[in-house]
Formats: sequence, C-alpha cells, structure tokens
Amino acid sequence: MGQAWGFGRYGGPEVQEFFERPDPVPARGEVLIRVEVAGVNPLDHILRAGLVDGLDGGRPFPRVLGMEAAGTVLARGEDVDGLEVGDAVFGFALTGGGTYAETTVLSAPHTARVPDGLTATVAATLPVAGTTAVDALDQLGLPAGATVLVNGVGGGVGLAVARLAVGRGLRVIGTGSTAKREHAEAVGVRFVDYTAEDVTAAARELVPDGFDGIVDLAGGASLRTVAPLARNPRDVISVGDMSVPELGGRFVERRTDRRNLERAARLALDGLLTPVITAVHPLSDAPAALATVESGHASGKVVIKVA
Ligand SMILES: NC(=O)c1ccc[n+]([C@@H]2O[C@H](COP(=O)([O-])OP(=O)(O)OC[C@H]3O[C@@H](n4cnc5c(N)ncnc54)[C@H](OP(=O)(O)O)[C@@H]3O)[C@@H](O)[C@H]2O)c1
Repeated sequence: MGQAWGFGRYGGPEVQEFFERPDPVPARGEVLIRVEVAGVNPLDHILRAGLVDGLDGGRPFPRVLGMEAAGTVLARGEDVDGLEVGDAVFGFALTGGGTYAETTVLSAPHTARVPDGLTATVAATLPVAGTTAVDALDQLGLPAGATVLVNGVGGGVGLAVARLAVGRGLRVIGTGSTAKREHAEAVGVRFVDYTAEDVTAAARELVPDGFDGIVDLAGGASLRTVAPLARNPRDVISVGDMSVPELGGRFVERRTDRRNLERAARLALDGLLTPVITAVHPLSDAPAALATVESGHASGKVVIKVA
C-alpha cells in the first residue's frame, strides 16, 4: 500500500483527494517504481477535468494524478527490455498509473535509466518539458545565429526551449509576465514583458525582418498576436494550441520514446537542458503544487518530492 493523490471523478480542484492504494501490478511492458520525484504539468489538471480521453488508460476512479516521474524499479512486467530491478529510472506513466504516489507503473518503452550525475529531481522534469523542448527545436531545425521567439518563455517548457535554443547558438526573444524576467534573462533570453509592452512593437524593433522561428507555449489570443511575426508561417510551432494549423503553423510532433529521453538526459548532463526548478513540494503539499501550475502562470518547473 502507498499514499497517492488524485481524483474521485472528473471536475475541478474540489474532486481531488488523498487515498491509499495497493502497489500497482506491472502489466506487460510496464515497470513498477518507487517514486522519488514527480513532475507537475498542465496536462495533469486537464486530465482531471476530463478534457482528454484515452491518455489515462481508462482506469477506474479514484485515479492518480501525474504523467512523469523518476524513481527506482521495484518489479518488471513481461516484455520489458533494458530496465532491471534496482535501476534508477525516469519516464512516462502513459497507462494511467499516475505519478503523484509512493509507487506507480511506468511504460517501459517510454522510460530510461537515469545516467550517473543526474539527480532524480532533474530527471523527473525531462519526460514532458525536456523532450518537448527537444522536439520543438528539432522540428524548427534552425541554424546557429537564427532568431526564435518563445511565447510563454517563463514556464516549464518555455525555459527549457530557451536554454536549449541559447545553447544551439540561436538568438532568443521570449514573452512572459513581469515575474518571469529574471528567470528568462538568466538563461540568456531577451525578455519582452507582455503586461508592460506592446509585444508586436517590441518584437519588431528587436527583429525587424521577422523571426526565423516561433515556439508557442501560451496559445490562444497571444499565439494569434505573435504568429505574424514569423517570416514564414510554417515556422510557427505550437506546443499547446492545436488550432495553430489555421495560422499556417504546425503543432509539435512528440517523441516520447526511450531514445528521446536518453537524449534529453545527455543534454541535461551537458548543461544544455538544465531545468529551472522553482518549487519542490512534499506529496502532502501536492494540492499547492498543482494549483500553481493550474493558475496558468507557473515559473519554470514545479515538482513533488515523494520519497
Ligand atoms: N503537446 C505536448 O506534448 C505538450 C507537452 C508539454 C506541454 N504542453 C502544453 O504546452 C503549454 C505550456 O506548458 P508548460 O508546462 O510550459 O506550462 P506552464 O509551466 O504552466 O507555463 C506556461 C507559461 O505561459 C505563460 N503565459 C500565460 N499567458 C501568456 C501570454 N499571454 N503570453 C506569454 N506567456 C504567457 C505563463 O506565465 P506568465 O503569464 O506569468 O508569463 C507560464 O509561465 C501547456 O498548454 C501544456 O499543456 C504540451
């Protein structure tokens, strides 16, 4: 048995609850882990609200929140390659196990070993924000010296994109609210405060000929404001707003496999994808951790330290 935090039915924060659950039995292609650290993501409250079908395995309620974690393998299901009991691992809970819990099951093809030198806290942030940043920049394929606008630079994915882009030699301009300036500038971003400046005018002044690429994390009206700043609409990649093709842009294509996790881990070890972790909560404080992300204005990554 272990403690877990999740929801008894679909809804708002009022449906969230702590409960005890038996350790899940790893099915074929799954590993049971003792969770050390779980990452907190917008998708967690989106799933709780019942807005996405099919991503949480259709398990009975109560369901456990959380898509990503780092921890230690306790048991393996059948057909698990490359992961052994006792390994420190990180990855995705794609089959509905949930990661805001003392134990959970991860999908083995979407789980990798934590390399020596990487902490569980850093590793727990890589499945969602880390690999998304890698995918978005790979799909833009910009050469060193190119300009990229990161719309929503202050959040978990935004700061990961910014750090990786700066490391690739790109000139990075990022939008966010006032509190994000310090984090963004610390990773080398030329920051535009959307609460204090006209984003279009500020961006045009910085990059008069238009951006070589845009990575959008904020979506909605702000995506529609920044999209025309790209030289070519095709080079607008949104990570959160699926309506981006209406603007001529592309929704990010995700690669959640072990290979991409290993790549993100190597980049983190090399200091090119080091997450900006702004809050580490104990499991008992999971409601506050998710509330920060659900506000829509999180800074960097929020994680839950379970063990
Ligand atoms: N497709 C995928 O696989 C995938 C993977 C990861 C994330 N996502 C999605 O990508 C989005 C971002 O994820 P995340 O983890 O980075 O979320 P996050 O940590 O909550 O960050 C979102 C950031 O956007 C900023 N923001 C909000 N409105 C803005 C505006 N009008 N202009 C500029 N910035 C604004 C927020 O803070 P301020 O407003 O205070 O600056 C916040 O820092 C979410 O929609 C998430 O669901 C999708």
